[in-house]
Amino acid sequence: MQEKEILQNLREKFSELYGDGDVALYFAPGRVNLIGEHTDYNGGHVFPCALTLGTYAAVRKRTDDKIRMASLNMNDAAIEEMTLGDYTNKAEGSWTNYPRGVIWAMSEKNFTIPTGFEVLYYGNIPAGSGLSSSASLEVLTALFIKDQYGFDAVEQLDLAFLGQTAESDFVGMKCGIMDQFASAMGKENAAMFLETDTMKFDYLPLKLDAAKIVITNSMVKHELASSEYNTRRSECESAVQDLQAKYDIKTLGELSPEQFEEGKELIADETKRKRAKHAVYENDRTIRAVEALKQNDIATFGKLMNESHVSLRDDYAVSCPEIDDLTSWAWEIDGVVGSRITGGGFGGCTVSIIKEAAVDTYKETAEKKYQEKYGKKPEFYVVDPGAGAHRISQ
Ligand code: GLA
Repeated sequence: MQEKEILQNLREKFSELYGDGDVALYFAPGRVNLIGEHTDYNGGHVFPCALTLGTYAAVRKRTDDKIRMASLNMNDAAIEEMTLGDYTNKAEGSWTNYPRGVIWAMSEKNFTIPTGFEVLYYGNIPAGSGLSSSASLEVLTALFIKDQYGFDAVEQLDLAFLGQTAESDFVGMKCGIMDQFASAMGKENAAMFLETDTMKFDYLPLKLDAAKIVITNSMVKHELASSEYNTRRSECESAVQDLQAKYDIKTLGELSPEQFEEGKELIADETKRKRAKHAVYENDRTIRAVEALKQNDIATFGKLMNESHVSLRDDYAVSCPEIDDLTSWAWEIDGVVGSRITGGGFGGCTVSIIKEAAVDTYKETAEKKYQEKYGKKPEFYVVDPGAGAHRISQ
């Protein structure tokens, strides 16, 4: 569906659910990470871009203390109603925990909403695909609350921090800042090179030399991701503690590969050593990949993407057989510059950079082999980087 149709549908359904009247419309994108995976909570660098896919909201303030939420993606758009203050209780297994978490995170910062609202969401990011549908929902909610209630002190970057707090401290997935950052700060045709310990960042125009960003959805939902993710994170933190016997560091992102090699024996546990190795080397790869892109050296960028995948597969152990097959098949095709798993892992998508002339061959080959081996079709999205969260003028 085109944006125009999405918005028309959203308006119509909003009126059916909540009655006629004025509504305000907002959008926040999902993201794809080109390189720099599992580095953000390790104080390292990431290089994501926002997508034109994301989550939309139609919103209207109420005068009473009721908050009413529905989503066209969930349970026949059934309304979940809560009273101001109630949102602090998590709803068992409900998607509303993301927006509830955001209202909670904002009230913790003294941006407390004085009246309720009614909202209808619609998202076109496939759920569980690792393209940050949850981050887009969080950033979107923070944005419309800021806008509707006039919380002018909340800046665009704050939307990212509020979303991350909601996800980490309310929902319980101890995520880094990358996804919410990309959703809030995205820019058309640019990727973002972010240093997560200082939050310094640059927009880099994506000049890919007649190549495209192709996302391939394995259709394996990353259901176990949250608990495994939190485990990886604590393994890295524990490795830092071991390394502190030699280095005055707070995060793995402060170490070069050479320093890591000199100190790695301090990490007694082999699994933790592998996790730390990934975090250190991936950070270094990300810095080198961006350098290569600045020199228009797409080939090196692609090679580093492939190395990133191998490290995520073997040392960080966040891939799965379906994704490993998709990447290996991609690497064999002429015109595929690079291909790797993207996002948190345990399913979801690969991201590949593919010469325009080879995109069809890639799709046909991947689809045929995947269908033969796994009995299902992958989905493909050829994407351009999109803008960050914004209100839609009507
Ligand atoms: C998830 C998290 C991010 C990041 C990635 C892995 O998407 O939300 O913060 O850690 O995994 O790079």
